Amino acid sequence: MSQPEASSPGRRGLGGARIVLGVTGGIAAYKAAELASTLVQAGVALTVVMTAGARQFIQPLTFEGLTHRRVYTGVFEGWNDGHTGHVELASGADLLLIAPATANTIARLAHGNVDDMLSAIALATAAPIVIAPAMEQHMWLHPATVANVETLRERGVTFAGPDAGRLASGAMGQGRLAATGEIVAAARAALGRGGPLAGRTVVVTAGGTQEPIDPVRFIGNRSSGRMGIALAEAAIDAGAAVRLIVTRNVDPQLVSGDVVVVESARELREAVDDALPAADVLAMAAAVADFRPERVSDQKIKKQGGQESLDLRLVRNPDIIAGVEKAGLLKVGFAAETEHVVAHAAAKLEAKGLDLIVANEAVATIGSERSQATLIARDRAPVSLPEAPKHVVAARIVDEIVRLLTLEDADA
Ligand code: CTP
Repeated sequence: MSQPEASSPGRRGLGGARIVLGVTGGIAAYKAAELASTLVQAGVALTVVMTAGARQFIQPLTFEGLTHRRVYTGVFEGWNDGHTGHVELASGADLLLIAPATANTIARLAHGNVDDMLSAIALATAAPIVIAPAMEQHMWLHPATVANVETLRERGVTFAGPDAGRLASGAMGQGRLAATGEIVAAARAALGRGGPLAGRTVVVTAGGTQEPIDPVRFIGNRSSGRMGIALAEAAIDAGAAVRLIVTRNVDPQLVSGDVVVVESARELREAVDDALPAADVLAMAAAVADFRPERVSDQKIKKQGGQESLDLRLVRNPDIIAGVEKAGLLKVGFAAETEHVVAHAAAKLEAKGLDLIVANEAVATIGSERSQATLIARDRAPVSLPEAPKHVVAARIVDEIVRLLTLEDADA
């Protein structure tokens, strides 16, 4: 009998994760195709299992095309050539994700019923389970469903959504399948459970602040927020609870999980202050404007005939990370410099009382998909990382955060 290869120790994140995606019979089943595509593109080894109901809405061929793998539909499939059907799928999974999940499937799982391939895997697996429900509001709010969801939550099942909005019937209410990004975020968090940052809360800021001049204009910068988002995801992959604080310009498609949106440096400081009591790590990847217009006009500033210049007086913004004082908090700064990169970053490490600073060359990094970073901590020589996609660099930064937290714990 062939046994699935055990998950490699230390594997983190979606890349290489083995996920079984259960698709059940609701109109939202068509959205599972986009979810499957997103997961496959993120490097997931995805096996799709469909219920009979799901096949009324979408064909197995769609998922076969997206995953390049066999799609399972019946409980007696997969027993040929020494394979053990649902047992093998269940034991080989790092995660069971069910999206969309109908009220009926939630009920079957809560009661341990096994009448198809998906319910058999759900009962046989030791992997974490994430459920993204989709149904009419009355079904979601029915006491039977509420009780079933509670039962599953008590057993450690995670729920993503459902969201409020327009439902299949045309009515408005709660019951829409959660956005793909939210479901993927829940999957990441479930896969990261028990990782080296388990039990830690990491606050990450991302993007570039916008300092208003008048109701339609602002002073901003070119930061895309990609590094911060990648860092938040890498921290979730390592098991952390993450509070992500983003500026308005950050593409909401990239944002997932516990997110706060801010505009100016002063709003960012308030959001950081709110997050601090729970924080073990503060990672300030956001590009913060050092100055803001002294006066913000209530009305759009109009040019006068013949006017050739406009004076804007700017005043200093608070230095957020330098001003944060909390015992035991690990402070991680970012420095994008155009010259003397390591020397300037090292000076900021000292001046701002940081534990770690990530230095990189500004022009090559800001707005790019890739980064070449140097990690500067107090206890060793700077470590220069190879140029790589930001998610790879982010994983290395998280490794360094883990190393510093471990040292801190040993000192305590
Ligand atoms: N930072 C901050 N508050 C500010 C400015 C910067 O918390 N008002 C943080 C950034 O988020 C980053 C680190 O400090 O993590 C370094 O940011 P950077 O803009 O490079 O530093 P500055 O002190 O503004 O230096 P410079 O004069 O080079 O702009």
